[in-house]
Amino acid sequence: MDKFFSRITLKRTILFLIVPFFLIQLYRPNKNDKDSVMSDDFLEISNAPEDIKLLIKNSCYDCHSNYTNYEWYDNISPISWWVDKTVAKGKVAINFSEWKNTDPQKRLSFLSASVFDIKTDRMPTERYIKLHPLAKLSIEEKENIIMWIDDINRFDPYYGINEH
Ligand code: HEC
Repeated sequence: MDKFFSRITLKRTILFLIVPFFLIQLYRPNKNDKDSVMSDDFLEISNAPEDIKLLIKNSCYDCHSNYTNYEWYDNISPISWWVDKTVAKGKVAINFSEWKNTDPQKRLSFLSASVFDIKTDRMPTERYIKLHPLAKLSIEEKENIIMWIDDINRFDPYYGINEH
């Protein structure tokens, strides 16, 4: 009899855990894969050298653009909620997909802050690098990005953009 009950309890417990797990998979309010206009994107309009663009795309775009390259496990709730929340916060700091319409002052202060964040390994975040080792910037790559940022003409209100 005891055995019978414990089997039922086990089944119920499993159901109790598994059903909500499947149900929460249906809730994904902020997935970051919206359509956006490529002609506003940093990659499209910036006069940065191609290798710099590629580094920024590989190391920053998952959290600072409209296109996150999700890993399979990023799509499992509740992990996905946490990932999407981080991306939303990153996009408030800067959204490279909206580079064109971003206030020049904001672009400038973001890039200046990036120098510090890249030097001190604040960005890309440590946790992200652990899961995405390919996004890690080598010392030389860091220097290249920082050199590009340092060379920007700060008095040009359209700096960092090809067409005025
Ligand atoms: C894993 C997601 C993620 C990646 C990848 C990432 N960032 Fe961020 N970034 C954030 C978040 C979230 C914020 C918002 C502030 C915070 O929480 O620290 C942020 C804020 C910033 C800021 C604002 C100032 C500050 O320090 O708070 C700068 C500058 C920045 N990121 C630069 C970069 C650069 C440059 C890269 C690529 C080399 C990059 N980030 C890659 C998530 C990310």
